Amino acid sequence: MSAPAPLASPVLVFDSGAGGMSVARRIRHLLPQLPLCYVADDAGFPYGDWPEEALTAHCVALLTRLVDELRPCAVVIACNTASTLVLAPLRARLSIPVVGTVPAIKPAAELSCSGLVTVLATPATVVRDYTFDLIRRFAPDTAITLVGARGLARLAEGAIAGKEIDAQVLAQEIAPCFVTKNGARTDVVVLACTHYPLLLPQLRLVAPWDVDWLDPAPAIARRLAVVLGDSVSGPAPGAEAQRPPDRVIATSGADLGPLLRLLAVAS
Ligand code: DGL
Repeated sequence: MSAPAPLASPVLVFDSGAGGMSVARRIRHLLPQLPLCYVADDAGFPYGDWPEEALTAHCVALLTRLVDELRPCAVVIACNTASTLVLAPLRARLSIPVVGTVPAIKPAAELSCSGLVTVLATPATVVRDYTFDLIRRFAPDTAITLVGARGLARLAEGAIAGKEIDAQVLAQEIAPCFVTKNGARTDVVVLACTHYPLLLPQLRLVAPWDVDWLDPAPAIARRLAVVLGDSVSGPAPGAEAQRPPDRVIATSGADLGPLLRLLAVAS
């Protein structure tokens, strides 16, 4: 039997900056035959500082235009700060599948032995109704600590651009994640901003004790595979070699092509 033809239209992976590459690399790992078009809205970065209404209107208008221009087969919003606001209005506008990235509260509650879980996100994600709703529905008996880190996404952008990270600054950003209560301590930290998994080696080094750092990216890649169904499922020998080239688009007009190197690092 001959290999299925590679998909001609890409998946559009969207974030405010380079963070969504933590999701894109898992998609590449799971679905190597899929071409990717990565869009960084770096002109709008950081989304964590935007008021809700303005960010919703901005993302819906931008993504509607991008889908019109780029004709992707699906959109992955690789950003918690945007997904917790725009998934519903965007799905109402688009006729292709839209996969979101939202805080992994359900798996964290299931994984935790101590019952102390932290959600590490942007200051915006930790005050979203969407996040509170996930906690009510999926973790009613877990003690959830919400930490809105002010500078972590920017630190990740710097690290990706090759800047040295100040370990002390990093340790201060994550210090509120580590809680002790009645002899128990936090054992799961949800990485609820897609920038943070890109700092995982550094986070592990400065953490006061070992925890499970929950990165939702593998689950998002699996969800995309389900949503795209037969067109991408199963082994496709040879299809990877025929894959059209990936693209990176920055809304600022900057050349972010070098980000594509990050696609190679999923393990
Ligand atoms: N990467 C984004 C997220 O997952 C947020 C970074 C930003 O503040 O723009 O929430």
